[in-house]
Amino acid sequence: MRNHVHFIGGGQMSEAIIRALLKNRVFNSNNITVTDLNKEREQHLTETYQVVTDQKEEDVLTQANLIVIGVRPQDDLKTVCQTIYEHASDQATIVSIVAGVTIAQFEAWLDSDRAIARVIPNTLTDTGRGYSGVALNAYANQADLDPFLNGFGKVTHIDEALIDAFTGYGVAGPNYIYYFIESLVDAGVLAGLPRDMAWEVALENMVGAVEMLNESGKHPRQLLDINNSPAGVGMNGLHQLNASDFAAGLQRSVLKAVERTTELSNQEGD
Ligand SMILES: NC(=O)c1ccc[n+]([C@@H]2O[C@H](COP(=O)([O-])OP(=O)(O)OC[C@H]3O[C@@H](n4cnc5c(N)ncnc54)[C@H](OP(=O)(O)O)[C@@H]3O)[C@@H](O)[C@H]2O)c1
Repeated sequence: MRNHVHFIGGGQMSEAIIRALLKNRVFNSNNITVTDLNKEREQHLTETYQVVTDQKEEDVLTQANLIVIGVRPQDDLKTVCQTIYEHASDQATIVSIVAGVTIAQFEAWLDSDRAIARVIPNTLTDTGRGYSGVALNAYANQADLDPFLNGFGKVTHIDEALIDAFTGYGVAGPNYIYYFIESLVDAGVLAGLPRDMAWEVALENMVGAVEMLNESGKHPRQLLDINNSPAGVGMNGLHQLNASDFAAGLQRSVLKAVERTTELSNQEGD
């Protein structure tokens, strides 16, 4: 079976994955097929990425070794699975990116001993960074899947029970960073710096601080201790953060995102 990925549903998330797979040369455009109910989406994907959208779904399903279910949770997943059940090769791995739908639900709908991966894709696909969380069923093979999954960022394999926590913390993760940077830049402006300068300095400090953590292997507390002399500028600034709701507010934000993920998953399971 040749390396061929078929996407059922060519919406925003599938498009982001396709763009990264092509950019990272994991697939050629003629090894990517897509079917979408919305013909304008198919046309857009063919015009933009030269992927194949004019074949019959039954035919491409027999050829694909990877089948990505990229429709929304509220779409007709049972019919999608019935079509896969009828036409896909037994050797194909089914990759669901559908939020809130469990491996057990797919196993029931697909009614077979198929390899299934439930992927919570990260949204930093254009950068090659960010972790997707992946849970596999008993028939799926990590070594077969990782080249595909690494084609749109980094991958961490997790127990399915951690998917909601992973979604609220990891996939929603760029939100926290964007918000932090925005708040920090405003602080620079408040202190009198031009916004452009505040922006550049904040981004450089962000990237540099991450590099320091990675390169030194030190805990943030150790770097804070090195940076902050007695009664110094940094220590005075940090005292205000210590006395604020900063840490607890951030942690509440993550817990709320996890809680909301679980609420939505339960609704999809109804
Ligand atoms: N966007 C994200 O950042 C993100 C992140 C993580 C996970 N996800 C998951 O990724 C999935 C897709 O999200 P999205 O944002 O890409 O949604 P989207 O942009 O709305 O795309 C879904 C597409 O699937 C099409 N579709 C629906 N039923 C279909 C079927 N039976 N066969 C073929 N195509 C069908 C829809 O067509 P119509 O509009 O004509 O119905 C639509 O074009 C969701 O399950 C979501 O939970 C998304």
